[in-house]
Amino acid sequence: MISVAIDGPAGAGKSTVSRQVAKRLGYIYVDTGALYRAVGIKFSSLGFDTEVKGDIEAVLKNTTVDIRFQDGEQHVFLDGEDVNDRIRTPEASMMASAVSAKPPVRAFLLEMQRKLAREHNVLMDGRDIGTVVLPQATVKIFLTASPETRAKRRAKELEEKGTPVPFDEVLADIIKRDHNDMNRPIAPLKQAEDAVLADTSSCTFEESVELVLSIIRERLG
Ligand code: DC
Repeated sequence: MISVAIDGPAGAGKSTVSRQVAKRLGYIYVDTGALYRAVGIKFSSLGFDTEVKGDIEAVLKNTTVDIRFQDGEQHVFLDGEDVNDRIRTPEASMMASAVSAKPPVRAFLLEMQRKLAREHNVLMDGRDIGTVVLPQATVKIFLTASPETRAKRRAKELEEKGTPVPFDEVLADIIKRDHNDMNRPIAPLKQAEDAVLADTSSCTFEESVELVLSIIRERLG
């Protein structure tokens, strides 16, 4: 099986670029952030805040997260319910970042991600795919862009969804999440030694897709 690991910070365009690249290659696209988002909304529905203080293991024992593919699109189910729409709010982003720093949460989602890569040709995106989840990935890419570029893209996405958020708030949110994701002691966001850096700050969407495809093709030979 071929596995492509794409890691990078929030808003680098990972999911939109990855989805398109996976389609072009005929691989399954796995958005691992969605799994952390599902766990995040579970905790917030139980009244936890971003400190996530309490018996995390007990909550996870009573939680199921699955991924199903419908027409090639990933749907995340939390306790049997499709939560694809509910996980895309700024609150869900913050809770995802908070729960993702907790070792039991990472352990809870690890095997599920590895199993997908054993069974399919995958393009998997996240923060620790090349470093922890799939250290033997066929190709590793670290996809990034400047915080301002990323905030601009995220603000546009939110506006298009009909849930606009002011630019300054989006930028502050991105900087805070970068800090959380890069400084947590477990599986922090960092470029794997053998990952190729792709900076898309000055790329259009199509150019980003082409850049990633060219890196993969070159590596696959
Ligand atoms: O990619 P995203 O914005 O949907 O990710 C949501 C949060 O989940 C992000 O703040 C970091 C965390 N995450 C992670 O820790 N590891 C991953 N493989 C994917 C996401």
